[in-house]
Amino acid sequence: KTMADPRKERTFIAVKPDGVQRGLIGEIIKRFEARGYKLVAGKLLWASKDHLRNHYKDLADKPFFNGLVDYMSSGPLFAMVWEGKEVVKMGRQMLGATNPLASMPGTIRGDYGIDVGRNICHGSDAVETANREIALWFKPEELSDYEYANKPWIYE
Ligand code: PPS
Repeated sequence: KTMADPRKERTFIAVKPDGVQRGLIGEIIKRFEARGYKLVAGKLLWASKDHLRNHYKDLADKPFFNGLVDYMSSGPLFAMVWEGKEVVKMGRQMLGATNPLASMPGTIRGDYGIDVGRNICHGSDAVETANREIALWFKPEELSDYEYANKPWIYE
């Protein structure tokens, strides 16, 4: 029986419309790339409200749901898939806490954000969520499966 390679874990990361407008796409890519993660897919797109309602369907009952969908559809966002060991949890850690007062300096939100409703980036909260979100935002042929050169220098 074969076990899934933990280095092949994937997560969905998006630079939200405010992050795009503030010129932070490169900064966010840079952090994941520099940490050692592998970019599997990336595209700039202006998401529809329907698509975003689907993406955030678990939050449909929240008072901020409509505002969140409006904000996320207010301009193009940059959608990505990143791959590597523990990338779901690590990605969330690199993004920083949702609550601005809890997002530590050194994290993306802790370095660049003030308000929860303009928090620059999204990251999947669990492996199952990541799989659902990747399938929602990308076609299978948009995901590139390739050998990443620096792998032996990242993992022991
Ligand atoms: S909750 O209430 O615990 O389910 O929320 P949480 O998991 O912390 O956040 C889920 C996503 O909702 C966004 N969020 C908000 N947006 C606007 N206003 C308010 N008050 C607010 N609270 C939470 C939060 O940024 C999460 O979005 P993503 O895109 O997943 O980061």
